[in-house]
Amino acid sequence: MFRKSIEQMAPYTPGEQPRPGQRLIKLNTNENPYPPSPRVKAAIVKAAGPLLRLYPPPRADELVNAAARLYGIPREMILAGNGSDELLAMLFRAVLARGDKVAYALPTYSLYDTLAAIQEARVAAVPLGPGFAQPLAALLAERAALTIVCNPNSPCGSLAMPSELEDLARGLDGRLLAIDEAYVDFAECHALPLVKRYPNVIVLRSFSKSFSLAGMRVGLCFAQPPVIEQLLKVKDSYNLSRLAISAGAAALADIGWMRHNVDRIKRIRAMSEKRLRQMGFEVPPSQANFMLARIPGHDMAAVAAGLRRRGILVRHFPQSVFYDSLRISIGTPAQMDALFKALEPLIRPVLATRANGATGKDERPSRARTIRRAAAILRPQSQQVPPRPVPGQ
Ligand SMILES: Cc1ncc(COP(=O)(O)O)c(C=O)c1O
Repeated sequence: MFRKSIEQMAPYTPGEQPRPGQRLIKLNTNENPYPPSPRVKAAIVKAAGPLLRLYPPPRADELVNAAARLYGIPREMILAGNGSDELLAMLFRAVLARGDKVAYALPTYSLYDTLAAIQEARVAAVPLGPGFAQPLAALLAERAALTIVCNPNSPCGSLAMPSELEDLARGLDGRLLAIDEAYVDFAECHALPLVKRYPNVIVLRSFSKSFSLAGMRVGLCFAQPPVIEQLLKVKDSYNLSRLAISAGAAALADIGWMRHNVDRIKRIRAMSEKRLRQMGFEVPPSQANFMLARIPGHDMAAVAAGLRRRGILVRHFPQSVFYDSLRISIGTPAQMDALFKALEPLIRPVLATRANGATGKDERPSRARTIRRAAAILRPQSQQVPPRPVPGQ
């Protein structure tokens, strides 16, 4: 009944969401532990009136105008989405026909794999560089129709500098470069000015992380008008609800609230990285609202499951090169304390085995699976076997 490629593809599986009433500490999907600005609630209540009988403005004018004022970008260069996931979906739909090439780092945000599979696009998955650096030169060499740089990258939190991204944009010579800045408010710099200088650059932002609005579904796309015009053709007519438009505009109007929360989260991130390192983890410096805690070569599945039994959700990516890592979202100080308390006894035996010179069991098979998967992604579409489901972000 369906296209063969759809029947064969693995579905995107989002991170676990607790059932109503279930008390779990949620450090698995990089949400913000602090609530959104009170102005957001007031705006939603106001929007939930008689006007709900009318369709919302198709271009989400109130939100786009607020973004234009705040970021100093003309409104013709801004497109609002139902979360940045919708904007990514529009981008893949508008750019990639069957067999066209899309390039991105491996590992990165796994939704890109799903969107590529829907389009039957060819994926050039480029391994991260030393220290998990963004592999920009290798991405450039792919000369793909669409190159995506998740910056900071998930799940490792590494950041490419705007000057490096500018070199990539220039080198791609008219081919599209999308910079997914879902986490950039937690980073030391961003690449938004590039959209004014390069007609092939697209910057995507999410309100789900720094603005604490994951439940509202709001994202923004910045690009030059000819790019926006093409994306508009594949957009749902009324893609944001009236509530989402008002909520997003109110969040932008109270930018101080967001910055205050981001500052708190960055401070907790610094303390948590230090504490994890003291416990014996390797923690690459993160520019996002999550950290990667690694014990190189040791499969962390059992540790993630142990935390789950103790009521704490973190992310483990069993089929990735990061099978030996936990991705931990930054929570409140109390949530992080609970995490460290639960983690300590789970990790002690692992570190003791390593100190005795043993490496533990069942480590290489996961890695072998990972390499097989990377190879499968790189095979031409015609030879591909359907990948096993990969949990999403
Ligand atoms: C890198 C990246 N891009 C985009 C998104 C999607 O964000 P949104 O909630 O705005 O759809 C996520 C969500 O986790 C993400 O990790």
